[in-house]
Amino acid sequence: MQSIYLDHNATTPVDPAVMEVMAETAAHFWANPSSGHAPGRRAREALRLAHEFIAGFIGATPGEIVVTGGGTESDNLAILGAVRACEAERPHVVISAVEHHAILESCTVLRREGVDITDIPVDPHGRVDPDEVQKALRDETVLASIMHANNEVGTIQPVGEIGALLRARGILFHTDAAQSVGKLPVQVDQLHVDLLTCSSHKIYGPKGVGFLYIRRGTPISPLLVGGGQEQGLRSGTENLPGIAGLAEALDVAAQRMATEADALRRLRDALWEGLTRAVDGIRLNGHPTERLPGTLNFSVEGVLSSDLLALLDEVGICVSASAACTTESAHPSHVLSAMGVPAELAAGTLRLSLGRSNREEEIPQIIDRIAAAVHQLRKSRT
Ligand SMILES: Cc1ncc(COP(=O)(O)O)c(C=O)c1O
Repeated sequence: MQSIYLDHNATTPVDPAVMEVMAETAAHFWANPSSGHAPGRRAREALRLAHEFIAGFIGATPGEIVVTGGGTESDNLAILGAVRACEAERPHVVISAVEHHAILESCTVLRREGVDITDIPVDPHGRVDPDEVQKALRDETVLASIMHANNEVGTIQPVGEIGALLRARGILFHTDAAQSVGKLPVQVDQLHVDLLTCSSHKIYGPKGVGFLYIRRGTPISPLLVGGGQEQGLRSGTENLPGIAGLAEALDVAAQRMATEADALRRLRDALWEGLTRAVDGIRLNGHPTERLPGTLNFSVEGVLSSDLLALLDEVGICVSASAACTTESAHPSHVLSAMGVPAELAAGTLRLSLGRSNREEEIPQIIDRIAAAVHQLRKSRT
């Protein structure tokens, strides 16, 4: 039985063009970009070109890009770095209730350091109301962080609108765009952001690489100190093959984005239509339209995600319960709780995230295998 991968929000396979660029970079630009000799200069030039490409992709300048070890590190640097660099005596930070754990845990660290944090609620579709952000602001607010697209349910936030109101108040704004860069248009000036997170492995690039966009003039303290690479904000010899791979992944995404988004949306909607016909008692989680094109999250009455995952794994369907990083955890998803999904229903949730490898012919097989698994589990309970 052919296995079908439907977990592209967890990670994606590396694109062949990306692999090629990484292998070439490792072979020809292995020198340390900080070295003064000719091979070092060549590596430095390759690094400069990659920064230039990455910056251009989001409408930034190369000096505003700090390459990191991925989305988690970018989120940590944005939240911890921006708040620690501010002069306020008792800073206040605003985040949404559906942020990734990389943001939530950074805020846990800040709370211990005496920072006040406000969690903004979301509506039943997982959307933040810009008015709620406005209401939460105080004179002491130094930073707000609202993700661009949610990794579990795919809901897209009105980041541009929120950014505009924060800009008017002179408050720094970070968005975690780990799930949206390469899938939706992301231009830092249109979104009015000062800080933006990207992760390479969500867009067919290598793991362990990402970047943080930092608008020129934004005060920020580094998390890693040492040799002063990446403008002193991320010390350590640069992972040049990874960085070149990230730039190539963005290049491939730029060429495919518009057609890929339409194709994924069509597949996703056909899948949902078929599932609602084949399985009763299922409910969509996430915004009906303002949602990542490939994300389909739903809850199934009367079954447990862990049981469903196990059965689906046996028949080659690779999906997650919610976020991949919490699949092993017994805790209900904080995203579904914030959206008001009842705990019994949230306990039977699946996240299907489609990507480049998925084909129309797979849709009936996915529907059949999910319907059969649900039927088997419900039968075993009666
Ligand atoms: C929204 C979001 N932010 C941050 C991360 C963390 O990125 P990384 O795996 O590159 O550390 C992820 C990955 O799951 C994510 O989906």
